[in-house]
Amino acid sequence: MIKKINSSSIKLIKYYKLINHNLIYNNKAINRYKNNNFEISADKAENLERLKKSISAIKNCSLKSSATNMVFGDGNPKSKIMLVGEAPGSNEDQEGLPFVGRAGALLDKMLASINLNRKNVYISNIINYRPPENRRPTDEEVNRYMPFIKRHIEIINPKILILLGSTAMNALIGNDIVISKARGKWIDKQFGNCKTSVIITFHPAFLMRQPAQKKMAWIDLKMVRDKKAKIKI
Ligand code: URA
Repeated sequence: MIKKINSSSIKLIKYYKLINHNLIYNNKAINRYKNNNFEISADKAENLERLKKSISAIKNCSLKSSATNMVFGDGNPKSKIMLVGEAPGSNEDQEGLPFVGRAGALLDKMLASINLNRKNVYISNIINYRPPENRRPTDEEVNRYMPFIKRHIEIINPKILILLGSTAMNALIGNDIVISKARGKWIDKQFGNCKTSVIITFHPAFLMRQPAQKKMAWIDLKMVRDKKAKIKI
């Protein structure tokens, strides 16, 4: 049905457009400092927002053009425990959230085994856009996204940083180490103003392919549980 609009309605519509009414009237309270229902400081919220904008402004990255969504982070930005994986897969790309596919389900179980969940940790990846066919990101791609994940860590400011798999390990710790030797050890690291204790463990996708290694990951998880208790976070 076509509704006739009389001249007074036209005037009203013009007036509403003029005053940009949809920006003024909103039936929800505005809380700029809420991120996924976690109240965070204005500073942290602003820094995260600025970081997100600079990632979406990245030029000349083919990952960006083939991806559906940017995958920035998930969990509690106030958490003192941060996890960093490799790059989004297909489910993550669809939902715009890290670790929501099969590897994510295992990660959730790993976290639950030491009484953690997405409400008390923060999760991100080295790369924010899905590499096609879930291929490993190239060195060039890792280098391109490195300043962003380093800044992300600095903003979250975790006391414990868990690196999942060798891409995260090589990017943030160095290329001269192998995960089988480097996992399960605490490494002191500084990212900008953030001083943190880093532990490397196996990526959940690797653990799905090599379930025998789960016992090693369990050792690493217990180290996280003990450190958490020791530093009272
Ligand atoms: N693997 C990752 O490294 N990150 C994700 O977000 C999902 C799978």
